[in-house]
Amino acid sequence: MTSEATVGTPGWTVEAPDIRVRGVRVHFGTSRHVLTGVDLDVASGEFIALIGASGCGKTTLLNVIAGLVPAAEGTVMIRDRPPAAGRSDICYILARDALLPWRTVLSNVAYGMELSGVGRAERERRARVYLERVGLRDVADFFPSRLSQGMRQRASLARAFAVERSLYLMDEPFSALDSQTKLLLHDQLLSLWESSHATVVFVTHDIGEAITLSDRVLVMSRRGAGVVEQIHVDLPRPRSAEALQADERYHDLYRLAWTALRASTA
Ligand SMILES: Nc1ncnc2c1ncn2[C@@H]1O[C@H](COP(=O)(O)OP(=O)(O)OP(=O)(O)O)[C@@H](O)[C@H]1O
Ligand SMILES: [Mg+2]
Repeated sequence: MTSEATVGTPGWTVEAPDIRVRGVRVHFGTSRHVLTGVDLDVASGEFIALIGASGCGKTTLLNVIAGLVPAAEGTVMIRDRPPAAGRSDICYILARDALLPWRTVLSNVAYGMELSGVGRAERERRARVYLERVGLRDVADFFPSRLSQGMRQRASLARAFAVERSLYLMDEPFSALDSQTKLLLHDQLLSLWESSHATVVFVTHDIGEAITLSDRVLVMSRRGAGVVEQIHVDLPRPRSAEALQADERYHDLYRLAWTALRASTA
């Protein structure tokens, strides 16, 4: 196993990154700092996974990148501009899907495009294409209450990728799903992402998910000091979540990430 080439301390930089975070500190009110000097570079088109103990600041870091939480110190640049809430090139996806119950699945998928000013005919055309891509063509006219949790998240993915943003921030989007459904969703997310060329920052507690999806797994320190370890996921693409289960390299990487995660919480 080439662990030296795979694991690295985060002294790296990326040339012309999509996301550049330098020395970011965040605190809420008079509480102690939640993030204490975080550095992070993400290249354009890269898929990174962020893992770390509960409460280490993963969601806070996503919120800073999205412009929803201000940094007390440090700088954040998203393609050479500071973050701002509502930027039209960023899409944020959470664990709880935000489907509107009074709209059909098709109309929910079209909704993101509606907000972005895409015309009606194009909205409907694209919504149908993306529903087909996540295997939900047959339920396009259903209301969300008739969908399983996995189907709801597939509709959310279709909506997110139909708006064709260049940066996706995802905070444990599959955490409520069973492991079989997760594997299906991994394949669908990979397929959507591979044709989008978008940059993704994906937060998860699931090491297998992090390795299946990402180019790099970044391990955050329990004390909010940012990324303390990174694992380069050198598995070839395109990947199949199920096939990876039988791949020895996948299990090697899993062990590396597990060890790094344990060390980060010690
Ligand atoms: N709005 C807030 N006000 C006060 N403290 C907050 C706020 N948001 C987060 N925190 C604190 O900041 C720390 C980091 O929280 P955050 O939600 O970023 O962690 P996390 O790594 O995403 O955790 P989890 O894995 O459980 O989702 C925690 O101690 C949390 O209590
Ligand atoms: Mg969180």
